[in-house]
Amino acid sequence: MYSTRPVKIAGMGYYVPPNVLTNFDLEKMVDTSDAWIQERTGIRERRLAGRGVTTSDLAKEAALACLKDADVSADQVDLIIVASASPDHLFPATACIVQHAIGARGAAAFDMEIGCTGFIYALATGAQFVASGMYKKVLVVGAECLSRLVDWSDRTTCCLFGDGAGAALLVEGEAGEGFLAFHLGADGSGGDLLSLPAGGAKMPASRETVDKGLHYIHMEGKAVFKFAVKIVDLAVTKVLEKCGRTPQDIGVLIPHQANLRIIESACARFGISKDRVMVNIDKYGNTSSASVPIAMCEAISEGRIKKGDLVVLVAFGAGLSYGSAAIIW
Ligand code: UT7
Repeated sequence: MYSTRPVKIAGMGYYVPPNVLTNFDLEKMVDTSDAWIQERTGIRERRLAGRGVTTSDLAKEAALACLKDADVSADQVDLIIVASASPDHLFPATACIVQHAIGARGAAAFDMEIGCTGFIYALATGAQFVASGMYKKVLVVGAECLSRLVDWSDRTTCCLFGDGAGAALLVEGEAGEGFLAFHLGADGSGGDLLSLPAGGAKMPASRETVDKGLHYIHMEGKAVFKFAVKIVDLAVTKVLEKCGRTPQDIGVLIPHQANLRIIESACARFGISKDRVMVNIDKYGNTSSASVPIAMCEAISEGRIKKGDLVVLVAFGAGLSYGSAAIIW
């Protein structure tokens, strides 16, 4: 059933909640400083979902903005994939909640959980459905409420993450446009380096897990940092190889916004100047699977991505996982 139908992005949208938490606000909460956070991460502030607002709410807003951008109504959507490390529940799938919320009555829906790499994996998955001809319109959403999974007394993680969502609608394209290649990978041996230990089947939530804070994000930051620098290099190199391009051909690099130093290291390695890389970590922090689509939306609205540009997406995260995509815009 596999064919070579080209697949393109017909529209995009994003949503970030209005509540801003600055580094100065954090100084009042934990033993940290604006100077440390900016120097070590590049983050100045992040957005937090308000009381009662959750991942599916952010996903819904991003999805509706995306459908508006693509000029497609919800009932035309065939499939919804939501990538999230902070889904509303273990089940039902957040994608099913979004399907109902936007009124996409006929759409199939499922979630993908592969940490911060989620949006790239979901794009690659959604693109296969369009390429094969099984579906015509696939809505891919990356959405997170990581603020709910962070220990707000742990300075090593609480400064890093933010909430938000971004979405893309995938449709059949013309030859020579859209996705050229994906490269996905994982190294499960590093799973313990970035995890949410309790709340799943291995360690169900209990008084003890709560007392020990095991329902919060646990991260060995330095080890993940080293993995990230190495793997961004590999993921970008591989995806360029697959489509016969070189780093000089990259019009805009859209990296996962986890740490400015990781992004700068990639730019130095590939000789990418500041005007060819999208950085917005200063405003939103690390929004996990939402970071790439939010950055892409902002790059488009700032006029940084032009028709015909080679756009390279790259992300990494829990799993440990990584992925990249090359697109002719
Ligand atoms: O998106 C998923 C993938 N995640 C990532 O890619 C994250 C990758 N890792 C990182 O971005 C960085 O490792 C961090 C930003 C998490 C940490 O930066 P670092 O330069 O690796 O710092 P560190 O963990 O080595 O800590 C250096 C010092 C330590 O103090 P001592 O032991 O040297 O006295 C920490 O206790 O900085 C201290 N520290 C802080 N100080 C002030 C850690 N967090 C803070 C903080 N404020 N928020």
